[in-house]
Amino acid sequence: MKNQAKMILEKDFKISEIDNRIYGSFIEHLGRAVYGGIYEPGHPTADEHGFRHDVIEMVKELQVPLVRYPGGNFVSGYNWEDGVGPVEQRPRRLDLAWRTTETNEMGTNEFMQWAKLVSAEVNMAVNLGTRGIDAARNLVEYCNHPGGSYYSDLRISHGFKEAHKIKTWCLGNEMDGPWQIGHKTAAEYGRLAQETAKAMKWVDPTIELVACGSSHRKMPTFADWEATVLDFTYDHVEFISLHQYYGNRDNDISNYLALSLEMDDFIRSVISIADYIKAKKHSKKKIHLAFDEWNIWYHSNEADKQIEPWSIAPPQLEDIYNFEDALLVGCMLITMLKHADRLKIACLAQLVNVIAPIMTESNGVAWKQTIFYPYMHTSVYGRGVGLNPIISSSKYDSKDFTDVPFLESTAVYNEENETLTIFAVNRHLEEGLHLEVDIRNFEGYEVIEHIVLENDDIKQTNSAQGTPVAPHSNGNAKKENGGVKALLPKLSWNVIRLAKQK
Ligand code: AHR
Repeated sequence: MKNQAKMILEKDFKISEIDNRIYGSFIEHLGRAVYGGIYEPGHPTADEHGFRHDVIEMVKELQVPLVRYPGGNFVSGYNWEDGVGPVEQRPRRLDLAWRTTETNEMGTNEFMQWAKLVSAEVNMAVNLGTRGIDAARNLVEYCNHPGGSYYSDLRISHGFKEAHKIKTWCLGNEMDGPWQIGHKTAAEYGRLAQETAKAMKWVDPTIELVACGSSHRKMPTFADWEATVLDFTYDHVEFISLHQYYGNRDNDISNYLALSLEMDDFIRSVISIADYIKAKKHSKKKIHLAFDEWNIWYHSNEADKQIEPWSIAPPQLEDIYNFEDALLVGCMLITMLKHADRLKIACLAQLVNVIAPIMTESNGVAWKQTIFYPYMHTSVYGRGVGLNPIISSSKYDSKDFTDVPFLESTAVYNEENETLTIFAVNRHLEEGLHLEVDIRNFEGYEVIEHIVLENDDIKQTNSAQGTPVAPHSNGNAKKENGGVKALLPKLSWNVIRLAKQK
Protein backbone atom coordinates (compact mmCIF):
# COMPACT_ATOMS: atom_id res chain seq x y z
CA MET A 1 0.00 0.00 0.00
CA LYS A 2 1.15 3.51 -0.77
CA ASN A 3 2.54 5.41 2.21
CA GLN A 4 0.15 8.32 2.44
CA ALA A 5 -1.66 10.64 4.81
CA LYS A 6 -4.41 13.22 4.72
CA MET A 7 -4.71 16.11 7.07
CA ILE A 8 -7.39 18.74 7.59
CA LEU A 9 -6.44 22.11 9.04
CA GLU A 10 -9.08 24.62 9.95
CA LYS A 11 -8.57 27.96 11.72
CA ASP A 12 -11.27 27.26 14.24
CA PHE A 13 -9.98 23.83 15.29
CA LYS A 14 -7.97 25.43 18.08
CA ILE A 15 -6.33 23.50 20.87
CA SER A 16 -5.07 26.59 22.67
CA GLU A 17 -2.69 29.49 22.50
CA ILE A 18 0.77 27.97 22.91
CA ASP A 19 2.60 29.07 26.04
CA ASN A 20 6.10 29.99 24.81
CA ARG A 21 7.54 28.29 27.88
CA ILE A 22 6.86 24.99 26.09
CA TYR A 23 10.15 25.68 24.27
CA GLY A 24 12.15 25.92 27.49
CA SER A 25 15.43 24.23 28.29
CA PHE A 26 17.61 23.41 31.28
CA ILE A 27 21.08 24.15 32.65
CA GLU A 28 22.22 22.13 35.65
CA HIS A 29 25.44 22.37 37.61
CA LEU A 30 26.49 19.10 36.06
CA GLY A 31 29.38 18.07 33.84
CA ARG A 32 30.41 20.86 31.47
CA ALA A 33 27.00 22.54 31.22
CA VAL A 34 28.00 25.56 33.29
CA TYR A 35 31.80 25.38 33.51
CA GLY A 36 33.19 25.00 29.99
CA GLY A 37 29.70 25.36 28.55
CA ILE A 38 28.07 28.72 29.14
CA TYR A 39 30.97 29.96 31.29
CA GLU A 40 34.61 29.75 30.29
CA PRO A 41 36.72 32.76 31.24
CA GLY A 42 39.66 33.00 28.89
CA HIS A 43 37.78 31.55 25.93
CA PRO A 44 38.31 33.74 22.83
CA THR A 45 34.59 34.61 22.76
CA ALA A 46 34.19 35.13 26.53
CA ASP A 47 33.03 38.50 27.82
CA GLU A 48 34.07 40.22 31.06
CA HIS A 49 31.78 37.85 33.02
CA GLY A 50 33.35 34.76 31.44
CA PHE A 51 30.26 33.98 29.33
CA ARG A 52 31.01 32.34 25.98
CA HIS A 53 29.39 34.36 23.23
CA ASP A 54 29.62 31.62 20.62
CA VAL A 55 27.26 29.65 22.89
CA ILE A 56 25.08 32.68 23.53
CA GLU A 57 24.63 33.14 19.77
CA MET A 58 23.44 29.55 19.38
CA VAL A 59 21.08 29.81 22.33
CA LYS A 60 19.66 32.95 20.72
CA GLU A 61 19.13 31.04 17.46
CA LEU A 62 17.03 28.59 19.46
CA GLN A 63 15.02 31.49 20.96
CA VAL A 64 14.90 29.68 24.29
CA PRO A 65 12.27 31.47 26.36
CA LEU A 66 12.84 29.75 29.73
CA VAL A 67 15.79 27.95 31.35
CA ARG A 68 15.42 25.69 34.38
CA TYR A 69 18.29 26.08 36.89
CA PRO A 70 20.37 24.96 38.90
CA GLY A 71 19.17 21.31 38.83
CA GLY A 72 18.25 18.55 38.51
CA ASN A 73 19.65 16.14 41.06
CA PHE A 74 22.23 18.80 41.92
CA VAL A 75 19.66 21.08 43.52
CA SER A 76 18.77 18.52 46.20
CA GLY A 77 22.12 19.13 47.93
CA TYR A 78 22.65 22.77 46.95
CA ASN A 79 23.00 25.66 49.38
CA TRP A 80 22.06 28.68 47.31
CA GLU A 81 23.93 30.92 49.75
CA ASP A 82 27.21 29.28 48.57
CA GLY A 83 26.71 30.82 45.14
CA VAL A 84 26.18 34.50 46.03
CA GLY A 85 28.49 37.25 47.23
CA PRO A 86 32.21 37.69 46.56
CA VAL A 87 33.40 34.81 44.35
CA GLU A 88 36.72 34.42 46.17
CA GLN A 89 34.86 33.70 49.42
CA ARG A 90 32.60 31.02 47.99
CA PRO A 91 33.13 27.48 49.31
CA ARG A 92 34.05 24.44 47.27
CA ARG A 93 31.56 21.67 47.99
CA LEU A 94 31.25 18.00 47.21
CA ASP A 95 28.27 17.48 44.93
CA LEU A 96 26.91 14.13 46.04
CA ALA A 97 24.45 13.89 43.13
CA TRP A 98 27.15 13.67 40.46
CA ARG A 99 30.21 12.93 42.67
CA THR A 100 32.06 16.04 41.55
CA THR A 101 33.45 19.18 43.18
CA GLU A 102 31.38 22.33 42.81
CA THR A 103 33.43 25.53 42.87
CA ASN A 104 30.42 27.87 43.09
CA GLU A 105 32.06 30.34 40.71
CA MET A 106 28.67 30.61 39.05
CA GLY A 107 25.62 31.17 41.22
CA THR A 108 22.19 32.74 41.15
CA ASN A 109 23.17 36.29 40.19
CA GLU A 110 25.60 35.23 37.48
CA PHE A 111 23.03 32.89 36.01
CA MET A 112 20.42 35.66 35.99
CA GLN A 113 22.91 37.87 34.13
CA TRP A 114 23.50 35.14 31.57
CA ALA A 115 19.76 34.51 31.12
CA LYS A 116 19.25 38.20 30.42
CA LEU A 117 21.86 38.05 27.65
CA VAL A 118 19.92 35.26 25.91
CA SER A 119 16.52 36.92 26.64
CA ALA A 120 15.30 33.93 28.64
CA GLU A 121 13.32 33.76 31.85
CA VAL A 122 14.56 31.46 34.60
CA ASN A 123 12.66 28.53 36.10
CA MET A 124 14.37 28.37 39.49
CA ALA A 125 14.39 25.13 41.47
CA VAL A 126 14.63 25.13 45.27
CA ASN A 127 16.28 22.42 47.36
CA LEU A 128 13.68 20.20 49.03
CA GLY A 129 16.17 17.35 49.49
CA THR A 130 18.55 18.47 52.25
CA ARG A 131 16.75 21.75 52.95
CA GLY A 132 13.22 23.07 53.12
CA ILE A 133 10.85 25.95 53.80
CA ASP A 134 13.38 28.36 55.25
CA ALA A 135 16.00 28.17 52.49
CA ALA A 136 13.27 28.36 49.84
CA ARG A 137 11.46 31.40 51.21
CA ASN A 138 14.80 33.15 51.77
CA LEU A 139 15.78 32.54 48.16
CA VAL A 140 12.49 34.03 46.94
CA GLU A 141 13.13 37.04 49.17
CA TYR A 142 16.71 37.32 47.89
CA CYS A 143 15.64 37.16 44.25
CA ASN A 144 12.26 38.86 44.12
CA HIS A 145 11.82 41.28 47.04
CA PRO A 146 12.62 44.85 45.98
CA GLY A 147 14.58 45.80 49.13
CA GLY A 148 14.33 46.77 52.80
CA SER A 149 14.60 43.24 54.20
CA TYR A 150 17.61 41.12 55.17
CA TYR A 151 17.83 38.95 52.03
CA SER A 152 16.77 41.57 49.52
CA ASP A 153 19.32 43.98 50.99
CA LEU A 154 21.91 41.22 50.81
CA ARG A 155 21.23 40.92 47.06
CA ILE A 156 21.59 44.70 46.71
CA SER A 157 24.87 44.56 48.64
CA HIS A 158 26.03 41.94 46.12
CA GLY A 159 25.57 44.48 43.34
CA PHE A 160 22.05 43.62 42.13
CA LYS A 161 19.84 46.58 42.92
CA GLU A 162 16.93 45.42 40.80
CA ALA A 163 15.01 42.34 41.95
CA HIS A 164 15.31 39.42 39.54
CA LYS A 165 11.51 38.95 39.47
CA ILE A 166 11.64 35.20 38.83
CA LYS A 167 8.15 34.01 38.00
CA THR A 168 8.41 30.20 37.71
CA TRP A 169 9.78 28.02 40.53
CA CYS A 170 10.18 24.25 40.97
CA LEU A 171 9.51 22.73 44.38
CA GLY A 172 12.51 20.39 44.39
CA ASN A 173 13.48 17.78 41.84
CA GLU A 174 12.54 14.11 41.31
CA MET A 175 11.77 13.60 44.98
CA ASP A 176 10.24 10.17 44.19
CA GLY A 177 13.65 8.78 43.16
CA PRO A 178 15.82 6.80 45.61
CA TRP A 179 18.88 8.32 43.88
CA GLN A 180 17.77 11.75 45.05
CA ILE A 181 19.51 13.31 48.06
CA GLY A 182 16.68 13.53 50.59
CA HIS A 183 14.35 11.16 48.69
CA LYS A 184 10.87 11.19 50.20
CA THR A 185 7.62 9.30 50.14
CA ALA A 186 4.76 11.02 48.32
CA ALA A 187 3.15 12.04 51.61
CA GLU A 188 6.40 13.37 53.05
CA TYR A 189 7.10 15.34 49.90
CA GLY A 190 3.49 16.46 49.47
CA ARG A 191 3.37 18.01 52.96
CA LEU A 192 6.76 19.68 52.58
CA ALA A 193 5.91 21.02 49.12
CA GLN A 194 2.58 22.36 50.39
CA GLU A 195 4.13 24.25 53.30
CA THR A 196 7.07 25.48 51.22
CA ALA A 197 4.71 26.72 48.53
CA LYS A 198 2.68 28.66 51.08
CA ALA A 199 5.74 30.39 52.51
CA MET A 200 7.21 31.16 49.08
CA LYS A 201 3.95 32.73 47.93
CA TRP A 202 3.62 34.71 51.15
CA VAL A 203 6.94 36.33 50.20
CA ASP A 204 5.87 36.86 46.57
CA PRO A 205 2.24 36.06 45.63
CA THR A 206 2.94 36.55 41.92
CA ILE A 207 5.12 33.45 41.50
CA GLU A 208 4.02 30.20 39.86
CA LEU A 209 5.00 26.85 41.34
CA VAL A 210 5.72 23.42 39.92
CA ALA A 211 5.28 20.39 42.19
CA CYS A 212 7.36 17.27 41.45
CA GLY A 213 5.61 14.52 39.58
CA SER A 214 7.25 11.18 38.86
CA SER A 215 10.81 10.89 37.54
CA HIS A 216 9.50 8.86 34.65
CA ARG A 217 6.45 6.94 33.45
CA LYS A 218 7.75 3.56 34.67
CA MET A 219 8.45 4.52 38.29
CA PRO A 220 6.66 1.98 40.52
CA THR A 221 5.03 4.83 42.42
CA PHE A 222 3.76 6.57 39.25
CA ALA A 223 0.14 7.74 39.41
CA ASP A 224 -0.19 7.29 43.19
CA TRP A 225 2.68 9.73 43.59
CA GLU A 226 0.97 12.41 41.47
CA ALA A 227 -2.40 11.87 43.19
CA THR A 228 -0.94 12.11 46.70
CA VAL A 229 1.29 15.08 45.92
CA LEU A 230 -1.57 16.98 44.29
CA ASP A 231 -3.90 16.10 47.16
CA PHE A 232 -1.56 18.08 49.42
CA THR A 233 -0.53 20.85 47.07
CA TYR A 234 -3.54 21.41 44.78
CA ASP A 235 -4.46 24.85 46.11
CA HIS A 236 -0.87 26.06 46.26
CA VAL A 237 0.72 25.13 42.93
CA GLU A 238 0.02 25.77 39.24
CA PHE A 239 1.90 22.82 37.73
CA ILE A 240 2.80 19.18 38.20
CA SER A 241 6.03 18.07 36.53
CA LEU A 242 6.78 15.19 34.16
CA HIS A 243 10.24 13.84 33.28
CA GLN A 244 11.10 11.32 30.56
CA TYR A 245 14.21 10.25 28.67
CA TYR A 246 14.29 7.67 25.88
CA GLY A 247 16.99 5.60 24.16
CA ASN A 248 17.29 3.19 21.24
CA ARG A 249 18.97 0.50 23.31
CA ASP A 250 17.71 -2.40 21.15
CA ASN A 251 18.64 -0.64 17.94
CA ASP A 252 15.06 -1.00 16.68
CA ILE A 253 14.30 2.22 14.85
CA SER A 254 10.61 1.55 14.14
CA ASN A 255 9.99 0.93 17.80
CA TYR A 256 12.22 3.82 18.84
CA LEU A 257 10.37 6.37 16.72
CA ALA A 258 7.08 5.17 18.20
CA LEU A 259 8.13 6.11 21.73
CA SER A 260 6.41 9.47 21.38
CA LEU A 261 3.15 7.49 21.61
CA GLU A 262 4.23 6.45 25.09
CA MET A 263 4.97 10.09 25.87
CA ASP A 264 1.47 10.96 24.69
CA ASP A 265 0.00 8.32 26.98
CA PHE A 266 2.09 9.65 29.88
CA ILE A 267 0.79 13.19 29.32
CA ARG A 268 -2.82 11.97 29.08
CA SER A 269 -2.43 9.97 32.28
CA VAL A 270 -1.07 12.92 34.25
CA ILE A 271 -3.92 15.13 32.98
CA SER A 272 -6.39 12.47 34.18
CA ILE A 273 -4.78 12.26 37.61
CA ALA A 274 -4.78 16.04 37.99
CA ASP A 275 -8.44 16.16 36.98
CA TYR A 276 -9.30 13.34 39.38
CA ILE A 277 -7.93 15.45 42.26
CA LYS A 278 -9.81 18.46 40.85
CA ALA A 279 -13.04 16.46 41.00
CA LYS A 280 -12.25 15.08 44.43
CA LYS A 281 -11.70 18.58 45.77
CA HIS A 282 -14.68 20.07 43.92
CA SER A 283 -12.18 22.62 42.69
CA LYS A 284 -12.60 25.06 39.83
CA LYS A 285 -8.85 25.32 39.39
CA LYS A 286 -7.06 23.41 36.63
CA ILE A 287 -3.52 22.15 37.19
CA HIS A 288 -1.22 22.50 34.20
CA LEU A 289 1.67 20.28 33.18
CA ALA A 290 5.37 21.16 33.18
CA PHE A 291 7.34 18.58 31.21
CA ASP A 292 10.45 20.10 32.70
CA GLU A 293 12.89 17.35 31.68
CA TRP A 294 12.58 15.54 28.37
CA ASN A 295 15.07 14.25 25.83
CA ILE A 296 17.05 11.22 24.67
CA TRP A 297 19.69 9.98 27.09
CA TYR A 298 21.57 6.72 26.67
CA HIS A 299 24.62 7.20 24.44
CA SER A 300 26.90 8.37 27.24
CA ASN A 301 25.95 5.88 29.97
CA GLU A 302 29.08 3.72 29.65
CA ALA A 303 31.51 6.66 29.35
CA ASP A 304 30.08 8.20 32.52
CA LYS A 305 31.22 5.18 34.54
CA GLN A 306 34.85 6.17 33.85
CA ILE A 307 34.63 9.61 35.47
CA GLU A 308 37.14 10.27 38.24
CA PRO A 309 35.17 11.07 41.43
CA TRP A 310 35.25 14.62 42.80
CA SER A 311 36.75 16.15 39.66
CA ILE A 312 35.68 19.64 38.61
CA ALA A 313 33.32 19.87 35.64
CA PRO A 314 34.25 16.55 34.00
CA PRO A 315 32.54 15.58 30.71
CA GLN A 316 29.36 13.90 31.99
CA LEU A 317 26.22 12.90 30.07
CA GLU A 318 27.81 14.01 26.78
CA ASP A 319 25.47 12.13 24.48
CA ILE A 320 26.39 12.55 20.84
CA TYR A 321 23.10 12.48 18.98
CA ASN A 322 22.55 10.89 15.61
CA PHE A 323 20.00 11.50 12.90
CA GLU A 324 17.36 9.08 14.24
CA ASP A 325 17.51 10.92 17.60
CA ALA A 326 16.58 14.16 15.83
CA LEU A 327 13.51 12.42 14.39
CA LEU A 328 12.34 11.22 17.80
CA VAL A 329 12.95 14.67 19.28
CA GLY A 330 10.75 16.03 16.46
CA CYS A 331 8.02 13.49 17.30
CA MET A 332 8.25 14.43 20.99
CA LEU A 333 7.92 18.14 20.22
CA ILE A 334 4.86 17.49 18.05
CA THR A 335 3.36 15.34 20.80
CA MET A 336 3.76 18.08 23.37
CA LEU A 337 2.29 20.70 21.04
CA LYS A 338 -0.81 18.53 20.69
CA HIS A 339 -1.38 19.07 24.43
CA ALA A 340 -0.84 22.83 24.40
CA ASP A 341 -4.07 23.34 26.35
CA ARG A 342 -2.63 21.63 29.46
CA LEU A 343 1.10 21.46 28.84
CA LYS A 344 2.39 24.97 29.34
CA ILE A 345 6.03 24.41 30.25
CA ALA A 346 8.56 21.98 28.80
CA CYS A 347 12.33 21.97 29.19
CA LEU A 348 14.58 20.13 26.78
CA ALA A 349 17.14 18.61 29.13
CA GLN A 350 19.61 20.04 28.77
CA LEU A 351 21.01 22.97 26.77
CA VAL A 352 24.83 22.85 26.59
CA ASN A 353 27.20 19.82 26.68
CA VAL A 354 25.03 17.71 29.01
CA ILE A 355 22.51 15.73 26.87
CA ALA A 356 22.34 18.90 24.84
CA PRO A 357 21.65 20.43 21.43
CA ILE A 358 24.78 22.62 21.78
CA MET A 359 28.28 21.22 22.38
CA THR A 360 31.51 23.02 23.07
CA GLU A 361 35.19 22.29 22.91
CA SER A 362 37.25 23.75 25.73
CA ASN A 363 39.00 26.77 24.29
CA GLY A 364 37.57 25.74 20.92
CA VAL A 365 34.41 25.89 18.87
CA ALA A 366 30.74 25.40 19.73
CA TRP A 367 28.74 23.14 17.43
CA LYS A 368 25.18 21.99 16.80
CA GLN A 369 23.97 18.46 17.48
CA THR A 370 21.34 16.85 15.23
CA ILE A 371 18.56 17.53 17.76
CA PHE A 372 19.30 21.27 17.59
CA TYR A 373 17.23 21.58 14.43
CA PRO A 374 13.76 20.26 15.31
CA TYR A 375 14.03 22.13 18.62
CA MET A 376 14.97 25.36 16.84
CA HIS A 377 12.30 25.00 14.16
CA THR A 378 9.47 24.50 16.61
CA SER A 379 10.69 27.25 18.92
CA VAL A 380 11.08 29.77 16.10
CA TYR A 381 8.08 28.86 13.93
CA GLY A 382 5.78 27.27 16.51
CA ARG A 383 4.52 30.40 18.24
CA GLY A 384 0.81 31.10 18.09
CA VAL A 385 -2.24 28.89 18.36
CA GLY A 386 -1.87 25.12 18.38
CA LEU A 387 -4.33 23.61 15.91
CA ASN A 388 -6.04 20.27 16.20
CA PRO A 389 -5.44 18.62 12.84
CA ILE A 390 -7.63 15.76 11.70
CA ILE A 391 -5.18 13.19 10.37
CA SER A 392 -5.57 9.85 8.65
CA SER A 393 -2.28 8.11 7.94
CA SER A 394 -1.05 4.69 6.91
CA LYS A 395 0.22 2.80 9.93
CA TYR A 396 2.59 0.08 11.16
CA ASP A 397 3.09 -2.17 14.14
CA SER A 398 6.38 -2.36 16.05
CA LYS A 399 7.67 -4.48 18.94
CA ASP A 400 5.83 -2.50 21.63
CA PHE A 401 3.27 -0.49 19.68
CA THR A 402 0.38 -1.13 17.34
CA ASP A 403 -1.13 1.24 14.82
CA VAL A 404 1.76 3.68 14.78
CA PRO A 405 0.97 6.35 12.17
CA PHE A 406 3.79 6.86 9.67
CA LEU A 407 2.90 10.54 9.81
CA GLU A 408 3.43 12.39 13.10
CA SER A 409 2.24 15.92 12.59
CA THR A 410 0.66 19.05 13.96
CA ALA A 411 0.27 22.69 12.96
CA VAL A 412 0.57 26.13 14.50
CA TYR A 413 -1.37 29.17 13.34
CA ASN A 414 -0.02 32.63 14.07
CA GLU A 415 -2.98 34.98 13.69
CA GLU A 416 -0.92 38.13 14.08
CA ASN A 417 1.68 37.29 11.44
CA GLU A 418 -0.85 35.37 9.31
CA THR A 419 1.36 32.31 9.08
CA LEU A 420 0.56 28.64 9.27
CA THR A 421 3.31 26.09 10.00
CA ILE A 422 3.04 22.34 9.66
CA PHE A 423 5.55 20.19 11.57
CA ALA A 424 5.75 16.62 10.32
CA VAL A 425 7.83 13.45 10.68
CA ASN A 426 7.67 10.56 8.23
CA ARG A 427 8.49 7.47 10.27
CA HIS A 428 8.72 5.17 7.23
CA LEU A 429 12.14 3.54 6.90
CA GLU A 430 11.99 3.08 3.15
CA GLU A 431 9.24 5.13 1.53
CA GLY A 432 8.41 8.76 1.09
CA LEU A 433 5.03 9.80 2.47
CA HIS A 434 2.48 11.41 0.18
CA LEU A 435 0.83 14.12 2.25
CA GLU A 436 -2.30 16.01 1.27
CA VAL A 437 -3.40 18.86 3.48
CA ASP A 438 -6.85 20.42 3.23
CA ILE A 439 -6.32 23.99 4.44
CA ARG A 440 -9.99 25.02 4.14
CA ASN A 441 -10.46 28.55 5.45
CA PHE A 442 -6.81 29.56 5.14
CA GLU A 443 -7.64 31.49 1.99
CA GLY A 444 -4.76 33.23 0.28
CA TYR A 445 -2.11 31.19 2.14
CA GLU A 446 0.82 30.02 0.03
CA VAL A 447 3.77 27.74 0.77
CA ILE A 448 6.81 29.94 1.44
CA GLU A 449 9.27 27.25 2.53
CA HIS A 450 9.50 23.51 3.01
CA ILE A 451 12.41 22.72 5.32
CA VAL A 452 13.59 19.10 5.44
CA LEU A 453 16.02 17.29 7.72
CA GLU A 454 16.99 13.99 6.12
CA ASN A 455 20.03 11.75 5.89
CA ASP A 456 20.80 8.42 4.24
CA ASP A 457 22.60 7.24 7.36
CA ILE A 458 20.30 7.08 10.39
CA LYS A 459 23.35 6.86 12.68
CA GLN A 460 24.99 9.98 11.23
CA THR A 461 26.17 12.43 13.90
CA ASN A 462 27.51 15.98 13.82
CA SER A 463 30.79 17.05 15.43
CA ALA A 464 33.11 20.00 15.91
CA GLN A 465 34.53 19.11 12.49
CA GLY A 466 31.25 19.42 10.60
CA THR A 467 27.46 19.19 10.53
CA PRO A 468 26.45 16.58 7.96
CA VAL A 469 23.02 16.47 9.60
CA ALA A 470 21.60 19.90 8.80
CA PRO A 471 18.33 21.02 7.24
CA HIS A 472 17.78 22.18 3.67
CA SER A 473 14.88 24.09 2.16
CA ASN A 474 14.37 22.00 -0.95
CA GLY A 475 11.22 20.20 0.14
CA ASN A 476 8.60 19.91 -2.58
CA ALA A 477 5.47 21.11 -0.73
CA LYS A 478 3.23 23.10 -3.06
CA LYS A 479 -0.24 24.56 -3.24
CA GLU A 480 -2.53 22.46 -5.47
CA ASN A 481 -6.30 22.72 -5.90
CA GLY A 482 -6.57 24.92 -2.82
CA GLY A 483 -4.71 22.46 -0.61
CA VAL A 484 -1.08 21.56 0.06
CA LYS A 485 0.67 18.53 -1.40
CA ALA A 486 4.08 17.28 -0.36
CA LEU A 487 6.22 14.20 -0.54
CA LEU A 488 7.94 13.82 2.81
CA PRO A 489 11.17 11.87 2.25
CA LYS A 490 11.58 8.56 4.07
CA LEU A 491 12.67 9.12 7.67
CA SER A 492 12.49 12.90 7.65
CA TRP A 493 11.64 15.92 9.76
CA ASN A 494 9.68 18.57 7.83
CA VAL A 495 8.57 22.13 8.41
CA ILE A 496 6.08 23.40 5.84
CA ARG A 497 5.66 27.14 6.21
CA LEU A 498 2.71 28.98 4.73
CA ALA A 499 1.93 32.70 4.83
CA LYS A 500 -1.00 34.78 3.68
CA GLN A 501 -0.14 36.62 0.52
CA LYS A 502 -0.94 40.35 0.68
O1 AHR B 1 19.07 15.89 33.34
C1 AHR B 1 19.88 14.98 34.00
C2 AHR B 1 19.25 14.43 35.27
O2 AHR B 1 18.14 13.64 34.93
C3 AHR B 1 18.69 15.44 36.23
O3 AHR B 1 19.64 15.93 37.10
C4 AHR B 1 17.67 14.65 36.98
O4 AHR B 1 16.61 15.44 37.43
C5 AHR B 1 17.23 13.59 36.00
O5 AHR B 1 17.25 12.33 36.56
